[in-house]
Amino acid sequence: MKELLEMLNIDYPIIQAPIGGVVTTELVAAVSNCGALGGLALSWSSPEDAEIKIKQLKSLTSKPFYANFVLNFEPKALKRTLELDVKIIQFSWGMPSIELVDLIKSFNAKIGIQVTDKESALRAMSLGADYLVCQGTQAGGHVQASKTLEKALPEVLQAANGKMPVLASGGISCGNDIKKFLVLGASGVVMGSRFVASIESGAHQIYKENLVNSNSDDTVLTVCMNKGWDNASHRIIRNTTFKMWESDGCAKIGNRPGEFDILGKNVSGKNIERYSFSAPVSGVSGNIEAMTLYAGTSVNNINNIKSASDIVKDIWDEYLNK
Ligand SMILES: Cc1cc2nc3c(=O)[nH]c(=O)nc-3n(C[C@H](O)[C@H](O)[C@H](O)COP(=O)(O)O)c2cc1C
Repeated sequence: MKELLEMLNIDYPIIQAPIGGVVTTELVAAVSNCGALGGLALSWSSPEDAEIKIKQLKSLTSKPFYANFVLNFEPKALKRTLELDVKIIQFSWGMPSIELVDLIKSFNAKIGIQVTDKESALRAMSLGADYLVCQGTQAGGHVQASKTLEKALPEVLQAANGKMPVLASGGISCGNDIKKFLVLGASGVVMGSRFVASIESGAHQIYKENLVNSNSDDTVLTVCMNKGWDNASHRIIRNTTFKMWESDGCAKIGNRPGEFDILGKNVSGKNIERYSFSAPVSGVSGNIEAMTLYAGTSVNNINNIKSASDIVKDIWDEYLNK
């Protein structure tokens, strides 16, 4: 754990997962300001958008934070991110090319790579990763993993062989979870859903309340909500759209019930169709419950919506008192 804290210059081994479109600069700043590590999801940002977000964030914190890029999409904003002096880059859903690794290293930035098993861990290490994020199938949002965290973590740790820190991600939201994975050998933990249900997150209030009111059995790993990102598993709350699709036999694209229903409008006034991969943010109107509500099995221990700093402090106290 000490190596991770020193490498990332943080006080708690707690990392806010990249949470796509529901992240806000206020959330990242709040997490980083209290001594954990916040992260901006920039996979879908243009260089100009990324610049606005990074400058905003830097006006809110002088602490470290990271930028995430899902490599299923071209990391258009990566170079601008590095030029703006972001010192930690975290990838998921693929391996960066050698050119990208060289570019990042030329800016003296650290590289984190999300892995899911021994093979991907070894590949990430050979490319020059500084730390690994091991994701398990309990995770909310898009799930690259095919094994539970309990199965994946030991093999990733074995591959890492003490050469670099490994973070545990997926289903973590209480002190007991932290204890369990630190005891197994993780250097720290990553939490996504827990921070979605924070005051500072950009998630729609109804989405946050759904996280609070659900337990792990209410979540499902599926391919249902695929408009915008096809062929990628994701864990969501079993909402009315999912139940409708399931009871209709889980039909393929083009044959799903209500395929072209308009569920509401996004903040720019554009229609949100049923099965869209966009999670509802504050300002979205319409049938929020039927939209994509990403959630990990971690919802079991998400019982309130509180500030990000209280989330970090309370969970760390809970861990220390276990
Ligand atoms: C709303 C939401 C959006 C997410 N967006 C991203 C993303 O942009 N990039 C990424 O690598 N992972 C993303 N994830 C997955 C997280 O990185 C992480 O694996 C997951 O949140 C861990 O499980 P937990 O939610 O139970 O803590 C997202 C997760 C959630 C809940």
